[in-house]
Amino acid sequence: MNKKLIIGNWKMYCQDLVEAKKIVAKAKKVAALLENTEVVDCVPTPFLGVLASRRSANFHIGAQSVSVEKEGAHTGDVGAVALGSAGAEYVIVGHSEQRKAGDTDELVSKKANAALEAGLKAIVCVGEDARDVEGGSHFDFLKKQINDSLANIPAKLAKGIVVAYEPVWAIGAKEAMNPEQIYEMSLFVRKVIADIFSQEAALKAIVLYGGSVNAANAADIVRVGQIDGILVGRESVNATGFSLILKAVDAIA
Ligand code: PGA
Repeated sequence: MNKKLIIGNWKMYCQDLVEAKKIVAKAKKVAALLENTEVVDCVPTPFLGVLASRRSANFHIGAQSVSVEKEGAHTGDVGAVALGSAGAEYVIVGHSEQRKAGDTDELVSKKANAALEAGLKAIVCVGEDARDVEGGSHFDFLKKQINDSLANIPAKLAKGIVVAYEPVWAIGAKEAMNPEQIYEMSLFVRKVIADIFSQEAALKAIVLYGGSVNAANAADIVRVGQIDGILVGRESVNATGFSLILKAVDAIA
């Protein structure tokens, strides 16, 4: 059995390094007790170096964005190589908040490529804005978004991709998508990955769910949703809440 993957997406919720060290210390301590779960905290870029020095066997550090450029005259951009050099092992690309700020599918695929080529794991976020219960058009939307966001990624780099299915309407919301629907969507995501790469790649692919995960719903989402893990926003900076999520998911047989 593959280990479950729990990724914390800190966004801009914690902007104080002293506080950040405390959150990481707690997550790392709990992670050390887990048997079936890997933990990644995606932290603000300036904190990467310091927090990455706390990495351990199943506690990793990731970044929240990456430049599409590889090197050179790009003032203010942070490239994948620099993220890796600072200790990041993962980077989020295509988060809906970045898509809202202008990232197109094409840009997302280029960023994912840049990350993978630098040896990082790319957490590629996808998800529909709204569910079309009558017509099911969200399936077509998602298929196109996944296809375009993973375009031009060579098959040999595919194993570094983590696909995070995050329905936009469930992000920062009161409630997560229900676990039965998550199961249906995870099968669909895997089918699309199989069509892009291969059946084998789809079986091996890591597919996560994200959107309003908390300690109360995390275990059901992973168990009933039959997914490989979760992407946690708000609750990832709540040291107590995040610990409970880690323990709940790890306890799934
Ligand atoms: P949330 O955010 O857990 O606060 O809903 C999830 C995300 O945006 O990754």
